[in-house]
Amino acid sequence: MAPDYPIAEALAEQGWWMQKAFFSKPLTRHLYQEVLALWESGDFRQAKIGPAGSALRRSKIRGDLIRWWAPEALSAAQESYGQQMEHLKFLLNRELFLNLAHWEAHYAVYPPGSHYARHVDRFQDSPERMISSVCYLNPDWDEQEGGQLRLFTEEGVVEVLPECGTMVLFRSDIMEHEVVAATRNRFSIAGWFRRRPEAPVRVIHA
Ligand code: OGA
Ligand code: MN
Repeated sequence: MAPDYPIAEALAEQGWWMQKAFFSKPLTRHLYQEVLALWESGDFRQAKIGPAGSALRRSKIRGDLIRWWAPEALSAAQESYGQQMEHLKFLLNRELFLNLAHWEAHYAVYPPGSHYARHVDRFQDSPERMISSVCYLNPDWDEQEGGQLRLFTEEGVVEVLPECGTMVLFRSDIMEHEVVAATRNRFSIAGWFRRRPEAPVRVIHA
């Protein structure tokens, strides 16, 4: 993995970074086969949107189904993906002093017609999320099929096609983004690099 444009510089200057074919074909093929098998076994659940989310409200905001990766029981393909996440974590800590402690990830499926309305990824209940990552898994994605990730950057809207092996990173706290509905199942891995929870403030009376 040799990024075209330095990752840390892009994140620091523009708040996002992306690269096509970031992950190797054999790895994304394995991950795709894995997500398809899990999807066919029905092992996904509707993603939440927070405490105030009724089923109706949720489907208007986000229509994806997810399956979290279990850190203690990763498959071989997930381990291999995780090694690259660890490498990125190391790089971001070294270059940007982010103090990232761990990463988390889930598979996501957006069935045809489902979307995720404009949002940021750092919710009130997850202040530790620093950098979001998305890796796409569908081979042979055609632009006509929709499913773009739209980033609302300072320079304007950036659209990313969900093509197999493409990796996108962006700031979880401020980068607004949305997922456009597609005409076929859209498979991805969404992940977050998290910093350590802040230690409670201790007031020392002299
Ligand atoms: C998310 C998200 C973007 C994508 O899961 O929070 O915004 O392109 N995903 O799947
Ligand atoms: Mn998001």
